[in-house]
Amino acid sequence: MSPRTTIGVFDSGFGGLTVLRALLPLVPNAHYIYLGDTARLPYGAKSQTTIARYAVESAKFLEDNGADRLVIACNTATALALPDITDHVGIPVTGVIAPGAQAALAAATNTDILVLATAATVASHAYRDVAATFGLQAHEKACPLLVPLVEEGWTQHPVLFDVLRIYLREALDEMRALGQTPSAVLLGCTHYPLIAGPVAELLRELGSDARVVDSADATARAVTAAMNLPAATTTADATFNCYATDSVEKFARLGSLFLQREIAEVQLLDLGG
Ligand code: DGL
Repeated sequence: MSPRTTIGVFDSGFGGLTVLRALLPLVPNAHYIYLGDTARLPYGAKSQTTIARYAVESAKFLEDNGADRLVIACNTATALALPDITDHVGIPVTGVIAPGAQAALAAATNTDILVLATAATVASHAYRDVAATFGLQAHEKACPLLVPLVEEGWTQHPVLFDVLRIYLREALDEMRALGQTPSAVLLGCTHYPLIAGPVAELLRELGSDARVVDSADATARAVTAAMNLPAATTTADATFNCYATDSVEKFARLGSLFLQREIAEVQLLDLGG
């Protein structure tokens, strides 16, 4: 690998930083460009046409600014727009859905998994379809209020616990009615690893012993596999710069907490409406 490989990482907001956090130690000799399309978030409440337009614009920006590889660190954009993105850029693209389903397969001890995701990801049934190819039955639960709470930094707030408890109780009841007991809960939105602790805690409270898994590490491993790289364990040489389409100060402040590294500067980007 050339030391100046540039990897573009894209999400609607902070969520994709969970994927960047997993990538930095595994591909340490790269430069990263992260783009959070915060002005147009949430993607998960929008139509396929709109999500595809936003995602293609973001992907092209990253390619035009030097990325020679793209990671779509957003389940919604992967589920609704991966073919549109690959049609419009000339560089390799890795999404999060297939790696996420692989992670669920590795964690599951029966065939039932629960996938928590945005409304658009759930409506696409992308997880149900890929899970079925692994012999898993995925029950998909839309959790539209979670992304705004995470973007607000309310990852430990009582309101987050109240909302999450309602979603999880409903999902477990729906599965019980179908005769299903999940052995793994897949966080099918890259914002959700930031609330993995509360998800695990509330599952216990509701009597479930399901394991909580996310797509971040699995996606980072898929990138190393696509690049034919040996596993590395240092972040020593990795460099990154960040763009956001709105709220750059908030992005730098909360993003540093989520990335667990200082984000010194976030450049404001206008991708249009
Ligand atoms: N982080 C995105 C995902 O993985 C969704 C956020 C949004 O709705 O904009 O689906």
